[in-house]
Amino acid sequence: MIHSVRLLSSVVLSVAILSQFVESNPAPHTGRQCRAVPGGPGWPSADRWVALNSTVGGRLIAPVPPAAPCHADQASYNETTCTNLKAAFKTYDFYVDIPVGSQVPAWDNDTCLPLETAPCSAAGYPAYVINATSATDVKAGVDFARKHKIRLVVRASGHDFLGRSNAPNSLSIWTHGLKGIKLFDSFKPRGCKTTINTTGLVAGAGSYMRQLNEAAAAAGRAMISGGGPTVTLGGYLTGGGHGLLSPRYGMAADQVLEFEVVTPTGDIVTANECQNQDLFWALRGGGGGTFGVITKVATKTFPSPNITAIAFVVGSFPPDRSGFEAGAYLISQFPYLERHGVSGYSYIFLNYTIPYPGSNLPPLSGLAMSVVLQDRINGSLDATGIFAPLRQNITARWPTALPLVFDTTEYPSFMAWWEAHHDTVVSGDNSVVTSRLLDETALSKNLTALTAAYETLADVDGTGTGAATAYLVSGRGVWNARPRGGGNAVNPAWRKALSHTTAGQSWTHLDYEGKSKRAAYSRADASLEPLRKLAPDSGAYVNEAFPEEPDWRHAFWGRGGKNYARLLRIKRAVDPDDVLWCHPCVGNERWEEIDGGVLCRVEDKDKRFYLQ
Ligand SMILES: Cc1cc2nc3c(=O)[nH]c(=O)nc-3n(C[C@H](O)[C@H](O)[C@H](O)COP(=O)(O)OP(=O)(O)OC[C@H]3O[C@@H](n4cnc5c(N)ncnc54)[C@H](O)[C@@H]3O)c2cc1C
Ligand SMILES: *[C@@H]1O[C@H](CO)[C@@H](O)[C@H](O)[C@H]1NC(C)=O
Ligand SMILES: *[C@@H]1O[C@H](CO)[C@@H](O)[C@H](O)[C@H]1NC(C)=O
Ligand SMILES: *[C@@H]1O[C@H](CO)[C@@H](O)[C@H](O)[C@H]1NC(C)=O
Ligand SMILES: *[C@@H]1O[C@H](CO)[C@@H](O)[C@H](O)[C@H]1NC(C)=O
Ligand SMILES: *[C@@H]1O[C@H](CO)[C@@H](O)[C@H](O)[C@H]1NC(C)=O
Ligand SMILES: *[C@@H]1O[C@H](CO)[C@@H](O)[C@H](O)[C@H]1NC(C)=O
Ligand SMILES: *[C@@H]1O[C@H](CO)[C@@H](O)[C@H](O)[C@H]1NC(C)=O
Ligand SMILES: *[C@@H]1O[C@H](CO)[C@@H](O)[C@H](O)[C@H]1NC(C)=O
Ligand SMILES: *[C@@H]1O[C@H](CO)[C@@H](O)[C@H](O)[C@H]1NC(C)=O
Ligand SMILES: *[C@@H]1O[C@H](CO)[C@@H](O)[C@H](O)[C@H]1NC(C)=O
Repeated sequence: MIHSVRLLSSVVLSVAILSQFVESNPAPHTGRQCRAVPGGPGWPSADRWVALNSTVGGRLIAPVPPAAPCHADQASYNETTCTNLKAAFKTYDFYVDIPVGSQVPAWDNDTCLPLETAPCSAAGYPAYVINATSATDVKAGVDFARKHKIRLVVRASGHDFLGRSNAPNSLSIWTHGLKGIKLFDSFKPRGCKTTINTTGLVAGAGSYMRQLNEAAAAAGRAMISGGGPTVTLGGYLTGGGHGLLSPRYGMAADQVLEFEVVTPTGDIVTANECQNQDLFWALRGGGGGTFGVITKVATKTFPSPNITAIAFVVGSFPPDRSGFEAGAYLISQFPYLERHGVSGYSYIFLNYTIPYPGSNLPPLSGLAMSVVLQDRINGSLDATGIFAPLRQNITARWPTALPLVFDTTEYPSFMAWWEAHHDTVVSGDNSVVTSRLLDETALSKNLTALTAAYETLADVDGTGTGAATAYLVSGRGVWNARPRGGGNAVNPAWRKALSHTTAGQSWTHLDYEGKSKRAAYSRADASLEPLRKLAPDSGAYVNEAFPEEPDWRHAFWGRGGKNYARLLRIKRAVDPDDVLWCHPCVGNERWEEIDGGVLCRVEDKDKRFYLQ
């Protein structure tokens, strides 16, 4: 049993009642200045929580860990429910409708797994959650956390790959209930004189990809959207947001016209090109959970393209690696493919059984591509024509690498394609991802080095049975984007990139000594190193990146540090009290998480980032 000060809510309440008399005392961490913890000095009294609950219309939740029904010592114990939960934990859509829980349980510190033999406590989860349905609910939570010096966290779906949407001992603003989507044919940003002549939509920040895509599709439109149906707009576009349509139109963050946002000081403001311009700049790419809680977003939509989907698999039978080499060659040809309007997703592997629908392929060494052409942009060459020279070259150079699949399928709309191709990922494993953005030089300069780098990355656990991704999700639309207001905080590395390449590393649950986790982190770090060397001036995509990426501030927000310095100045201006804190997030230098998940002040070790 893991002991927690708030394992039983009755204990919390009785201690909390006592603590109302000592609210102004510092937390008891050897004299350090720390955020209040449940049951500790400074934690608000039960009365105050009751008052907060009434301010938010009864929407305050004292969350029970989602897997509690699997544990005999929990009030909700129920074997049937537990059986269902075990399956649900593996489907990432499960996490979006529940107030707490991360699709990577390690971000909840594995404190309550759907596993009867493991202990279950609420220690890894927020103490309270506001099920927000309006900006005023959000404001009430932000003000309460600031006033009482409680750790505050923003969670929409719990899909974050880096653990930024959960914090123990915290109050969590759950944005899932911030819904509502309205289409428009032109948009006048509040306080601006001009009307922007573009189609678009205004959506609650908790809207997720499926809802947004459906709303746009109903009007024959499409928007920049990602592969995860329940990924929310808030988390997606604060990191940048890449999608199938990005090489043509830019990142999701590039399309934003206006935000409604609750700032850490508790102001409900509009941020656009005419007011709060700094905040407008930072929210578009500067990372989630940092500059405020976005409640509404106005963003562009596009006429839905028709789509020619191309499935291409080239492979050889291990130990023959010629398929892998041909695969790396295909990745090196992304600049050629981008010039011909191709975008989409590729997976490269040394010895892997690909889940290609309807096929019974044996384990292969090779590459599987799921890419598209939109509106037959360059009608002169169709899919077959575009791929013909690549296939000829593969046959000439790697005769044992077989083109095992080459299929095209026509879809009348973006939505029709998305329905057939969106992600259906398995959740519930403890894992980290790594990312590198690769430009034309990194891809095309030296095929030997590129092949070796992908080999290191795909050989994720040293067994040779892993896979890496090479997404072709950037191109001229991203390079030439003209975000409103003269720019945004999207990593400048995206403005030259063609590929966002990723891999994952996982570790065991209940790894109390952290051995398995540390080993996974060091494998992740080492497996990315050759790609870092190939693209030394580039960086990583913050939403799908390694939480311990070296020099992460510059890897996520641009070399040279100009953008990071600007983000930091904005963070200090909008959040002078560090109400919002996460890792790895802008401006988190003044606090650290110590054992037990308590957030404590540290001497600012990173003053060098304040320069410029
Ligand atoms: C299956 C799957 C597919 C994916 N596909 C893509 C893809 O195609 N393209 C792509 O770019 N990314 C993709 N991602 C990555 C995705 O962008 C990130 O996981 C993102 O962080 C999820 O955002 P969320 O709001 O759903 O998650 P959460 O975990 O709830 O939040 C993520 C972060 O955003 C913050 N946040 C959320 N809402 C708000 C808000 N309203 N205001 C302020 N901060 C907020 C949180 O505090 C946290 O820091 C995918 C992820 C998954 C799981
Ligand atoms: C908040 O109030 C609602 C409605 O009165 C109640 O159902 C809920 O349990 C309360 N939340 C907490 C944390 O007490
Ligand atoms: C357990 O949950 C199931 C399914 O929700 C329900 O039918 C059953 O009555 C519950 N059992 C107990 C003992 O509460
Ligand atoms: C959150 O609020 C919504 C909207 O009022 C409601 O439908 C939902 O049941 C609430 N969820 C929880 C877990 O309280
Ligand atoms: C708005 O844009 C559309 C499409 O580009 C164009 O046809 C229309 O004339 C424009 N309207 C105005 C008022 O500029
Ligand atoms: C490929 O992986 C399988 C396990 O998935 C293993 O049995 C086989 O020996 C491996 N082949 C080579 C050549 O490594
Ligand atoms: C796809 O769209 C393009 C451009 O609008 C059009 O020329 C083409 O005929 C369409 N193709 C199909 C198959 O609908
Ligand atoms: C087709 O390709 C040419 C040359 O690569 C480019 O100039 C043109 O803009 C492309 N057409 C479209 C509709 O994108
Ligand atoms: C194919 O190979 C030929 C000869 O090596 C080369 O000239 C050509 O550029 C290659 N084409 C592509 C698309 O790589
Ligand atoms: C290409 O990379 C390989 C492996 O890193 C290296 O040995 C070789 O010298 C490089 N070739 C060129 C032309 O730089
Ligand atoms: C996670 O749980 C372990 C084991 O109970 C505990 O030692 C550690 O302090 C916890 N970490 C955090 C950040 O809560």
